[in-house]
Amino acid sequence: MAISTRISQALQSLPKTELHLHIEGTLEPELALRMTERNGVTLPFNGLDDLRSRYYFADLQSFLDLYYQLMSVLRTREDFSDLMFAYLTHAHKDGVRRAEIFFDPQVHMNNGLDYNLVLDGLQDGIARGRDAYGIDAALILSVVRDLPVESAQTLLDAAAPRANELLAIGLDSAEVGYPPELFEQVYERAAGMGLHLAAHAGEEGPSEYIRQALDVLHVERIDHGVRIVDDPALVERVAAEGIGLTVCPLSSLRLQVVDDVANVPIRQLLDAGVRVTVNSDDPAYFGGYIARNYTALAEAGLPMEALATIAGNSIEACFAPEEDKAAMRAELDRWKAEYADLLA
Ligand code: HPA
Ligand code: ZN
Repeated sequence: MAISTRISQALQSLPKTELHLHIEGTLEPELALRMTERNGVTLPFNGLDDLRSRYYFADLQSFLDLYYQLMSVLRTREDFSDLMFAYLTHAHKDGVRRAEIFFDPQVHMNNGLDYNLVLDGLQDGIARGRDAYGIDAALILSVVRDLPVESAQTLLDAAAPRANELLAIGLDSAEVGYPPELFEQVYERAAGMGLHLAAHAGEEGPSEYIRQALDVLHVERIDHGVRIVDDPALVERVAAEGIGLTVCPLSSLRLQVVDDVANVPIRQLLDAGVRVTVNSDDPAYFGGYIARNYTALAEAGLPMEALATIAGNSIEACFAPEEDKAAMRAELDRWKAEYADLLA
């Protein structure tokens, strides 16, 4: 269904947070190729058209193969700063007031980079975004679950001295065969470092992984989590506990988790009272930044009231201080007054 320009503008200006975004997943092919030149790195592709032709994914793993390959172009502090600032520029344009952003240090460390260089670059980009747009951003240290658990412990060793610069810990990469319970000690240690807790679960993996993330890792938020619909009791529990689900419609479409955006179970979960949010995951790979994810849902028939509820959920489910949440709620109320006719 086509939507009006006014609806699409309303969804772009809708005050929202983004809670599921991998900074490495914002690496656009043009920027990746520019970085190969700037850093003297080679990639096995024949220019932009050849690279672009690889952006068709059969499943999560086929995406991850390209994602990790392209990450090798990131070499310097400036690379990470530029990547962050480019994302925050998109996010600001899309009405994002606050972004909680995953990064995958284990992959960069395996590429020979120092953890502190990566963190310095990302923090520099965040400072540039704050100065230019007033946008608020914080980092989620993401554990690559298909690397050995000892590698995650080494990551925490590197991260510990500057743990106060991190917001949370996350768990990403190939899901099936790497259940959350493997990371019990890692999460216990991260909690001891004062980090919030989130984990990807129930993207391709079973709803049992969502249960484990809650019961064994004690996460406050579930990333993706769409497979929760296989377990009605768990849906009820997550609704009652106010656990946020960071759903990513275009990601689930492009990774063949669903065959149509309309089949991402958002309406069903909202009706059950689950705190569903909408996010872009890896926008350079999946065909759109966050506002495009909202408009795709509108095109699939999700009413504007539901999309406004989702933006409200994104404010409630974020890890910002209460006064920042209150300011975002007030902005959302002003938006609702401005677009009252669309919400009727
Ligand atoms: N799932 C798992 N790992 C990832 C993702 C994702 O959506 N994006 C980047 N790494
Ligand atoms: Zn993700």
